[in-house]
Amino acid sequence: MTLDELETPAPVVDLARMERNLDGMAAYAASHDLALRPHIKTHKTPWLAAEQLRRGAVGVTCATPREAEVMSEVADDVLLAYPAVGAVRARRVAALPADIRLAVALDSVRAADDLADAAREAGRRVGVLVECDMGMRRVGVQTPEEAVALVRHVAGRRELEYAGITFYPGHIREAVNQQDDALTALNQRLGRTLDALKRAGLDPATVSGGSTPTALRTHEIAGVTEMRPGTYIFNDRTTAAIGACTLDECALTVLATVVSTAVPGQAVIDAGTKSLGREPIRTGDRSVPTGVARPDEGDGFGAVYGREDVIVRAMSEEHGLLDLSRSDWRPAVGDRVRIIPNHVCIVVHLFDMVHGIRGEAVESSWQVPARGRAAQADVLG
Ligand SMILES: Cc1ncc(COP(=O)(O)O)c(C=O)c1O
Repeated sequence: MTLDELETPAPVVDLARMERNLDGMAAYAASHDLALRPHIKTHKTPWLAAEQLRRGAVGVTCATPREAEVMSEVADDVLLAYPAVGAVRARRVAALPADIRLAVALDSVRAADDLADAAREAGRRVGVLVECDMGMRRVGVQTPEEAVALVRHVAGRRELEYAGITFYPGHIREAVNQQDDALTALNQRLGRTLDALKRAGLDPATVSGGSTPTALRTHEIAGVTEMRPGTYIFNDRTTAAIGACTLDECALTVLATVVSTAVPGQAVIDAGTKSLGREPIRTGDRSVPTGVARPDEGDGFGAVYGREDVIVRAMSEEHGLLDLSRSDWRPAVGDRVRIIPNHVCIVVHLFDMVHGIRGEAVESSWQVPARGRAAQADVLG
């Protein structure tokens, strides 16, 4: 099959680019003696997790119970980087296969107790990484003293094993070469927490951090033992805007067809919010030249591959409006384009199938089993 034969809209992955992204991150982690635990929320696909493990990843990171269930078919070491709050969720997590090494990130006594109760019922032990806020201000204990107190609580529950600490530096979205100040602040904050844990005799075995925008600077964060980038496998327009990849390293595009040119100044494609999501480009510093869009003209919701001055200006659910005002390219109805999405993780979550291509040839097509929320058994009835 060739690209021309695919029904649109469809996500297509340039396999050679993806392989380069995987190899590059694996080589970086190995060269700095960092454990690589990719976040699979980006691809939600077991065979891609297996590719990451084959290249040396120590395990996988998941956000949802379903992701953890699906990934435990290929990974024997799973981190749920999300607090399993509530008995229903905690039981589902504790019911993961007993032979996988399982850890959960959490930041409250309640989350620890819910997990411990579920683990006791399931007759197993579960590892815990205490989540510390290092500037993201999303989750995480706020002070070194709170970290020590929660670690003590975890260590006091027989069903839990204190495995270390974790943080997510998702607030650092400056261009890669402009992250110095943010990394200095992060180092100071993390250093205070590590000192307090050491003084309390609670040195963490694992210090897990890392994102795609900061990935290649992880070795500059003192004390980190493990990195968890996710987006890097495909990259996207936001990652390129931050300068954490080039547009040539964006592996996933959404193949779309021009379905109307009736309204002057625009072309309409069959990819709208239900294919691309309504994702803005989020960078830390808007004065940084992005190379993909000028902030004063609006970044849009995606850009045409190979013609990045043409952006998706507006969308409804199944329509994407290409802004032709900065280009003399005039597509015809029936032409096909590929859209580089702003946020690739959302795109994968929106499609049943993804296609792998080499040049024009469709080499493989796969389902995305870790999409959605339901337990696999419930979906199958
Ligand atoms: C807890 C956690 N770890 C790791 C990641 C991966 O970061 P990125 O998407 O920048 O690759 C995410 C992303 O949302 C996350 O929430």
